[in-house]
Amino acid sequence: MIQPTEKNDDNDDIVQWVRNGIAVRVFGEAADASNSVAAEIASLIRQRADDGEQCILGLATGSTPVRVYRELIRLHREENLSMKNVVTFNLDEYFPMKPNAAQSYVRFMNEQLFDHVDISPDNIHIPDGTVTPDRVTEYCQQYEDAIDTAGGIDLQLLGIGRTGHVGFNEPGSEQASTTRLVRLCEITRTDAAKDFGGLEKTPQLAITMGVGTILRSRRIRLLAFGEHKSAIVERSVQGAISDSVPATYLHDHGNVEFVLDSAAASKLNPSTADVSH
Ligand code: GLP
Repeated sequence: MIQPTEKNDDNDDIVQWVRNGIAVRVFGEAADASNSVAAEIASLIRQRADDGEQCILGLATGSTPVRVYRELIRLHREENLSMKNVVTFNLDEYFPMKPNAAQSYVRFMNEQLFDHVDISPDNIHIPDGTVTPDRVTEYCQQYEDAIDTAGGIDLQLLGIGRTGHVGFNEPGSEQASTTRLVRLCEITRTDAAKDFGGLEKTPQLAITMGVGTILRSRRIRLLAFGEHKSAIVERSVQGAISDSVPATYLHDHGNVEFVLDSAAASKLNPSTADVSH
């Protein structure tokens, strides 16, 4: 058994340990956790810019990453962070979905990040919810190819759904799955129903990067905040790898951090940490 608490020069609040190959970092407040991830992203962007290279980011939607995006906007405005060398691939989109609809992830990303920074619109990729059903398979393969052509994702940001989904990879998803059309679980649709004005108006389907797509990313940072995420965080970190909790597939990756606030971490047991990564 190792003692989980480690010092951190910048933040006395942070507690970190490794379990099942996942580095768990727990902050007192979601704001500090978000700023830490934004700082890592900014550092990666700057490092790549210094080398004359692009930085390929995998981005997520939902309420959880909003504060990361807000901090990136602040860094752009106040600390000269340019996103001109950034290429982004979003995880998922409802299907069907018009880009200008209130619930569209295109609109979400524009409002929460892209409209406020200097990223080139040509460098933004979000699964297209307007593709016709007969073209979806071909479209999903093109999305995979575009990620590979860009050189693969340097850092993938993830949230987590109450079903343990990452992107929209619901229970039953395969570890090697790639970008595809999926059916959403009732729990996920219930959580989304408030945005759509009721369950009956909530889409049944979505396009999502696959688990295999996510696992090809060089770094993965999963954020979860709040008590309502604590049970699924516990199962994801401490449970065995299983398709019933797709986030457990992250155990095998090698460079995954779960960045949590203390509420989301409240059901974890640091005393069962791995001795070494
Ligand atoms: C949706 C998104 C996921 C996100 C999840 C959690 O299902 N497709 O990528 O992780 O919601 O959302 P929130 O961050 O609002 O809890």
